[in-house]
Amino acid sequence: MIISIVNNKGGVLKTTLATNIAAAFSLNKKKTIILDLDGQGNVSATFGKNPYTLSKTIVEVLKGECELEDAIIKEREFLHILPSNDELNFFDIFISNGELKPEALKRIIHALEDKYDYLIIDTPPMMSTIVSIVLSVSNVTLIPFEPDQYAILGLRRVVEASKMIIEKGNKDLIVIAVPTKVNSRVTIHNEIIEKSIKPKLNSQGIPVTKNYVSQSTKSTASVGYERVPITLSIQKSKFQLEYLEITREIMEIIKGIKIEQKKI
Ligand SMILES: Nc1ncnc2c1ncn2[C@@H]1O[C@H](COP(=O)(O)OP(=O)(O)OP(=O)(O)O)[C@@H](O)[C@H]1O
Ligand SMILES: [Mg+2]
Repeated sequence: MIISIVNNKGGVLKTTLATNIAAAFSLNKKKTIILDLDGQGNVSATFGKNPYTLSKTIVEVLKGECELEDAIIKEREFLHILPSNDELNFFDIFISNGELKPEALKRIIHALEDKYDYLIIDTPPMMSTIVSIVLSVSNVTLIPFEPDQYAILGLRRVVEASKMIIEKGNKDLIVIAVPTKVNSRVTIHNEIIEKSIKPKLNSQGIPVTKNYVSQSTKSTASVGYERVPITLSIQKSKFQLEYLEITREIMEIIKGIKIEQKKI
């Protein structure tokens, strides 16, 4: 199953969600790989690896300079990474000068899909060719968002983009919104989710998870000190449970929608 994380807004926890959901699947002994399609290389950085020092990444695989298997980092038995680095920021240029074809990326994605139970794709904070390719091949797209008063404006654009992809061919794409950086003591956050965002997204057929990621510095600390996403931290905290619960809820929503899709 291909699950991508998309939002053109920066800093909404795309990478944090991607790495923690992947960690949650791996803890359930599901073969999981995170494909980093953001040139910032934050996925490998989350696991303590400097993306600038990696010589084998998705870019070398795309260019045919390295075998797919050789670029995969086997972080744990059930958790692998296909990293990226700054070169991936030139993807659009490589496409326009003919050095690369969009199909090359699709082929890699499908090869990974065949090998793993879950392929989690992290994307950059912009609506680029990469994101449109990712949306066209995903089974599920998660849209993390911060529930501030402008969230719905930004969300509308991402939702429109995914709807266009659904109409253009990826008819069964499931889109789910996940609230992040929620400060539950600030009631305005909950009000914005319940009164403004949920009704608008639900009316467009986009469910919003009940579970959310709380505002916290704990996650940044586990990445900084332990070099793992918080779900894999040895220090037990309620924030780990959040990601396990979000993952469980997402799988439940997917199951429900798939049953509905079969009925139609
Ligand atoms: N629960 C949390 N609350 C607040 N901040 C967090 C939380 N979890 C992680 N962060 C921090 O928020 C910042 C942004 O997170 P992240 O990198 O996941 O966002 P992103 O959407 O991937 O950003 P970009 O668009 O640049 O790729 C990071 O510094 C991260 O450590
Ligand atoms: Mg990121």
